[in-house]
Amino acid sequence: MIKDASAPIGVFDSGVGGLTVAREIMRNLPSEKIVYFGDTARVPYGSKSKDTIIRFSRQITRFLIEQKVKAIVVACNTASAFALDALKSEFDIPIIGVIEAGALVAAKETRNRRIGVIGTEGTIGSRIHERFLHSIDPSLEVIGKACPLFVSLAEEGWLHDPVTTLVAARYLEELKQKDIDTLILGCTHYPLIRSTIAGVMGEGVRLVNPAYETALELKVLLGDMGLLALKAEAEDFPYRFFVSDLAEKFKAFANSILPFDIAMTQKIDIEKY
Ligand code: DGL
Repeated sequence: MIKDASAPIGVFDSGVGGLTVAREIMRNLPSEKIVYFGDTARVPYGSKSKDTIIRFSRQITRFLIEQKVKAIVVACNTASAFALDALKSEFDIPIIGVIEAGALVAAKETRNRRIGVIGTEGTIGSRIHERFLHSIDPSLEVIGKACPLFVSLAEEGWLHDPVTTLVAARYLEELKQKDIDTLILGCTHYPLIRSTIAGVMGEGVRLVNPAYETALELKVLLGDMGLLALKAEAEDFPYRFFVSDLAEKFKAFANSILPFDIAMTQKIDIEKY
């Protein structure tokens, strides 16, 4: 484990979704450097088995550790649901996922105690949000719905497209019938189509994007370990981006959602790790 506050934070996801978490870390911990990895060759994760996701997550963790990161954020709900425990027990580095932070906020915010969770087939099938929410309050009613096409729509950049609205209306109908007042965006790709989801669910439903709370959880963790960066080293660009396929497409997407243009994205062979 690297005990160097000026070392970067590793952040990973199956593709561009984790950029929604990276963006919150950039906003809330502006002195931190970030090494981001998007597994664009193997996206989507949501339809793959637990064993496969653990294997992918181990490879990425090894790669990030080679980049000398001081902590890792698993910016993917599917990988958090399937692989976080394995990673934490196998690697000697602070690692956090994105599930607990969102569940805590939802439990606090709900008034009618009916919480919806949308995510990939893997995340919803694991029922991890439900288990976590019930450990906070067993009386909460938790209704999960897998929305796998949202990942492809977000990766395609169809963030405000009539097709996305139609797909959302079809997936979310069931949740609307259940009278939830809080909806956890349980996939890091979904904040990219937040306005479409909000439009379909209507004003009475509060959407919870766990990215912000994850950034705060990271801040507390680094603070407790004495690993918070004190100030950015102004001479370098503090963010590095790596992918497993098609770096140009990723770069164009990242440039459209981050508040600055990234100069370079490097493609690496993740299977080597
Ligand atoms: N963004 C990821 C998540 O939070 C995974 C999406 C996917 O690759 O299926 O679950």
